[in-house]
Amino acid sequence: MKGPEMNIDKRATGRPVADRPWTRLAWAGVASVALAGGLAACASGGSRSADVTESLKSSFNARPTAGLERLDQSELQRACSDAAGKPLPKAVADRLQEQALASIKYPADGQFLGDWKEGERIAQSGRGLQFTDAPGTVAGGNCYACHRLSRQELAYGTIGPSLYQYGKLRGNSAETVKYTWSRLWNPHAFNACNAMPRFGAAGILTEQQLKHVMALLLDPASPVNQ
Ligand code: HEC
Repeated sequence: MKGPEMNIDKRATGRPVADRPWTRLAWAGVASVALAGGLAACASGGSRSADVTESLKSSFNARPTAGLERLDQSELQRACSDAAGKPLPKAVADRLQEQALASIKYPADGQFLGDWKEGERIAQSGRGLQFTDAPGTVAGGNCYACHRLSRQELAYGTIGPSLYQYGKLRGNSAETVKYTWSRLWNPHAFNACNAMPRFGAAGILTEQQLKHVMALLLDPASPVNQ
């Protein structure tokens, strides 16, 4: 967690204490402790009982940018929690991954790459959809919270693999381009239980923003590929 904290902290300068991202991090910690306590009480492992969900919901207030429906588990989240870190049964994983793959929308105009400079700004931004954000704030991808991307940015997290030289190492064949787009749109299509946000499927980034992030990963001129 060292990387994400560093990266988030970097943005905290000059903001009132109550609004600092580490406060949010601390609250997220409280929530996961509450959740872990609740889970331990469940005989079946990961499935969350109705009273744990109720108790979680009573601990938070809905905000325009972060509603309490975020606390409802999807079928996929429930299956992954039940597996408790172990691989899902193959038939279940295959079905959930197929569902995720079927949800992916490719660019209507067939253009996958935008402007890597915009992509870098999106990768750096963790704004949008946080409870302290004003409604309508344009969301970023916060990619650096989990990935190394360019050589220049030293504050990055390691929850995800390094993406430094992603395009240089993989090239930009039609297959790579389609895979990368799909990974960004809905990562659960490739690995049902993984921590990366569904940037397209969950409506976090727009199609145009996704194109810019694609260019950051794949454009030979992008700092990621130097
Ligand atoms: C909360 C953490 C998190 C965030 C934020 C995140 N990712 Fe990821 N990402 C991951 C993880 C974890 C994996 C590996 C998933 C797996 O094991 O299947 C991954 C995998 C990937 C891969 C596939 C790598 C490969 O080797 O094929 C790409 C590409 C990628 N991420 C790009 C991005 C981009 C671009 C952003 C920002 C728009 C981003 N990620 C934001 C966690 C994250």
